[in-house]
Amino acid sequence: MIDFKPLLLATSLALSAVSAQAQEFRLGLITPPPHIWTQAANDFAKELNEKSAGEHSVSVFPAQQLGNEAQMVQQLQTGALDMAFLTLAEMSNRVPDFGALYAPYLVDDIDQAAALLRSETATSLLDQLPGGVGVVGIGYGMAGMRQVLSRDAVTGPADLAGKKLRITPFEPIRDFYTAVGAAPTPLPLPGVYDALANGQVDAIDMDFDSILILKFYERANNLMISNHMMFPMVGVVSGRVWRGLSDEDRALIQTTMKAHLDSVIDRFQAQEKDQEQQLRQLDITISEAGRDEFTDVIANWEAIWSEKASSLQDLRKAAAQVKGS
Ligand code: BEZ
Repeated sequence: MIDFKPLLLATSLALSAVSAQAQEFRLGLITPPPHIWTQAANDFAKELNEKSAGEHSVSVFPAQQLGNEAQMVQQLQTGALDMAFLTLAEMSNRVPDFGALYAPYLVDDIDQAAALLRSETATSLLDQLPGGVGVVGIGYGMAGMRQVLSRDAVTGPADLAGKKLRITPFEPIRDFYTAVGAAPTPLPLPGVYDALANGQVDAIDMDFDSILILKFYERANNLMISNHMMFPMVGVVSGRVWRGLSDEDRALIQTTMKAHLDSVIDRFQAQEKDQEQQLRQLDITISEAGRDEFTDVIANWEAIWSEKASSLQDLRKAAAQVKGS
């Protein structure tokens, strides 16, 4: 009989050598250094390095240094980039089910957004990422609820008709503002300040946090607090890179990155009300709009997206549970 023991021993030694192999990962994202997403990426990098006793390092490239999100997704697919924290723009362009997370008034506030993103229904969407995009979804983060900041006075959605309104470049948000009657103008976050300053856009779709830290209020001083949409983020690892990792390294990356993504959700939840107050104390004009002002817009949006995203019904059910709890 053949003795397989030496072979097994050699294989397991080779495997443990792989698992102990030092890796220098690169993580890309579009947010600037002071943004919470970038802080979380840096904290994740530090912790992964510590937990792997210095074996693994992660270099973080903020502010689109490696390209826009479409370019980063291409790099993730080829394995040229290892990890990224991304808006769901590219995900929902490729896997329309993610578009349902942008259903207008799917949730009413940041706490409901956090609970929905932590639900089984939202989490199970991540299973579509390896097949649909070629990346492994580790978990969700988020930014604050979406609002509208405008150069001209705005008291309700009707005032946005015909306005060039900056959006994050993807379809669910475009369809929302088309239904509002605005002219949605896709523009990634790093270009927004200049576009407002030079009049390329009249208004922007944005969250309290970015309005404050990126000082957009210096260039547009009318804020319509509408809380019309949540804004998930996803932490991903290249599928190619993932396949080359040991089980041990996968588990380490999974738990460490997930914890920092969770902390992003916690931080946005904790600061949202306070940031609203900070904005209310600035020299800007504030108006408020709610679900009732968007009834037709919601119906219009649903007509498009109930065809495109089979997840919409389940997410609405999960959101109803979150609201009832
Ligand atoms: C935006 O495109 O508006 C955005 C992207 C990332 C973080 C916050 C806002």
